[in-house]
Amino acid sequence: MSDETQVGIIGAGPAGLMLSHLLHRQGIASVVLERRSRDYVERRVRAGVLEQGSTDLLASSGVGERMTREGLVHDGIKLRFAGEEHRIDFRRLTGRGITVYGQQEVVKDLINQRLADGGEIWFEVEATAVEGIEDHEPSIAYHRNGEAATLDCEFVAGCDGSHGIARAALGAESFERSYPFSWLGILAKTPPTSDELIYAYHERGFALHSMRSPEISRLYLQVDAGDSMDQWPEARIWEELRLRLAERNLEPGEIMEDGITPMRSLVTEPMQRGRLFLAGDAAHIVPATGAKGMNLALADVKLLGEALTAWYRSTSADLLETYSDRCLQRVWRAEHFSAWMTALLHRDPAGDPFEHKLQLSYLRYVTTSHAAATTLAENYVGFDGG
Ligand code: APR
Ligand code: PHB
Repeated sequence: MSDETQVGIIGAGPAGLMLSHLLHRQGIASVVLERRSRDYVERRVRAGVLEQGSTDLLASSGVGERMTREGLVHDGIKLRFAGEEHRIDFRRLTGRGITVYGQQEVVKDLINQRLADGGEIWFEVEATAVEGIEDHEPSIAYHRNGEAATLDCEFVAGCDGSHGIARAALGAESFERSYPFSWLGILAKTPPTSDELIYAYHERGFALHSMRSPEISRLYLQVDAGDSMDQWPEARIWEELRLRLAERNLEPGEIMEDGITPMRSLVTEPMQRGRLFLAGDAAHIVPATGAKGMNLALADVKLLGEALTAWYRSTSADLLETYSDRCLQRVWRAEHFSAWMTALLHRDPAGDPFEHKLQLSYLRYVTTSHAAATTLAENYVGFDGG
């Protein structure tokens, strides 16, 4: 069995879905291959912070209606450490805020729109290889119900996340860093105790208080790399959250979802070869502390969509040729910011007391110096000038 399309897209996360939506708006056909089921993809809980550039893209491309209605606009965050609380006022420092709206909601909105537009998303279809990217006739080999087949395309977009096949198929150099800790995240039926996110640095480790709605909280704890959920019974999670967040009002509620995610930084450079272009987590991974993952994915596909549109309109390859270079400016800024936020807020299990004192000093600096607070704020809300 063989099929064909203009752009073959591997992966139905925010990157692949948004790309296919943007291409459709320009009259360019695509097929999205997704190894998981629709239900799985829509339920997968991930981070939920949108920069202004991301909300603008969702709204201007016609998929922002529910986000505008249900997303929670935040003008700042709180930092807690050493018994103190400080607010970083993004609006005052940068003129911008952020929108808290779960990645899985963005995914649902995009899937609904693609299907309403007659778009092709092939669920439970696993891409196994990308071929012919140096020729002008690339193809994606895939498996559906155990049967092998091929999708012939003009371009391939590798939007298959951190565990996909496209990065290896591209074969570029990767720059990587791992961390000696992970994040345990829960989604719980308990009202957020603060109307803004709380990032807490504590001797016992980092904790984050986020939310999805006035009834649902999203909470995270730094745990050791290699920890598993059996080491974290519910009572221990709540106790540790209360201690680290210094939040007596946090009421344990039904845990609707839990999981442990390793912290990792990775950049593949360049993000393109021949007719294969990577976008989102397939090309770069950030530790979740800076909440940049989904924003980078959306920023990549905005550029890729424009570059493919220019190609199909006028066979101009200029934007395609510079795609990776233009993405990587933003990517490296976000990588730096995410690694910096991670170092600032986590306890290194092997760290010495001197390191702890340095972290406290830097936290005080960030919360008292206008210049340092502005640096944090302008990176958090999304820095476009890189
Ligand atoms: N064939 C088909 N689909 C695949 C394959 C494959 N071989 N490998 C992976 N996939 C799918 C995954 O099941 C997933 O649905 O690719 C999709 C990739 O989606 P995401 O992981 O959401 O990646 P991306 O769209 O780049 O979005 C980045 O996701 O992990 C978060 O923190 C990250 O917020 C960031 C966002
Ligand atoms: C989330 O709401 O899931 C979230 C918020 C901020 C982060 C990471 C995750 O830095």
